[in-house]
Amino acid sequence: MARILSGIQPSGTLTIGNYIGALKNYVKLQDEHECLFFIVDLHAITVPQDRQKLRQNIREITALYLACGLDPKKVSIFLQSEVPAHSELNWVLTCNTGMGELERMTQFKDKSANASGKGHHIGAGLFTYPVLMASDILLYDAEMVPVGDDQKQHLELSRDLAERFNSRFGDTFTVPKPYIPPVGARVMSLQDPTKKMSKSDDNSKNYILMTDEPGVIRKKIKSAVTDMDGSVTYDRANKPGISNLLEIYSALTGDPIDALEAKYEGAGYGAFKADVAEVVVAELEPIQKKMKELLSSPLLDEVLDEGAAAANRLANRKIKKVHHKVGLGRKR
Ligand code: AQP
Repeated sequence: MARILSGIQPSGTLTIGNYIGALKNYVKLQDEHECLFFIVDLHAITVPQDRQKLRQNIREITALYLACGLDPKKVSIFLQSEVPAHSELNWVLTCNTGMGELERMTQFKDKSANASGKGHHIGAGLFTYPVLMASDILLYDAEMVPVGDDQKQHLELSRDLAERFNSRFGDTFTVPKPYIPPVGARVMSLQDPTKKMSKSDDNSKNYILMTDEPGVIRKKIKSAVTDMDGSVTYDRANKPGISNLLEIYSALTGDPIDALEAKYEGAGYGAFKADVAEVVVAELEPIQKKMKELLSSPLLDEVLDEGAAAANRLANRKIKKVHHKVGLGRKR
């Protein structure tokens, strides 16, 4: 049993990409490992956020964690900003990170180009954010971290920072390993299936939110971009739209892609898309029902309070050790 840490940014309402790529795996992991699942609100403010919306997203994600089946008796669910040691370790590690190391991060180049394209200012937090991510991981001695392709470079930095700190100051941190989930689907945008489905996308037709009404889901899938070929077959390079819908269908039902190709041979895109929509609706409807009940229940705050207490216990022990090793404070 390994210790696993993973989190989601409250930068919008979660999409089925977050569900298939993260939440669905979290639910499986909770029975196999010691899991800490948090809501990374400090990361969300690396780009501008509306404060009311941010708070609402935090509650919604907490409710979704529970509605999807995470059991607070088995896992700790907490809010990053309620564990001050994340920010404290972030500073110590920032002082041990080279500018050049951060300048190499490709996600910063992409995100800053995107922000300046929208006329947003680019905060230094966007640049230093991989150090905060390293702090999140190292604070809990997480042995495995589920990461998508876009986060591999950041995990590599976390490993480098852990090794550097251990060699400069003595053994302090566990060096984390990437965990590649068995269901590794990368859900793509519905209108541009060559790019990832993202909750902060400006065009709502690109994503399916976990809170979308059945009618909205059907409409969005019906208008998803496909191709002129007409056959329901998997080919990421030449048929990215149909391949994406096949992956969504397969990830949600467990049906292998080749079985789906056989099922829809000669059926046409209309019938296939209608079935994909029903699969998504059937998966999300019970989750949405539970989520609505949870949003008005005191359970959300209880879960976050208990999660914060458990996380603070672990994190405070570690930050004390770090401060001591570096020479901060008065203890001899
Ligand atoms: N499209 C996706 N397909 C599969 N997995 C996905 N994840 C996100 N989008 C997809 C997984 O969800 C987890 C949480 O991600 P995050 O919110 O911390 O950041 P993100 O990857 O940047 O997600 P978004 O939706 O694209 O957020 P914004 O738009 O705010 O940048 C991660 O495990 C991620 O792999």
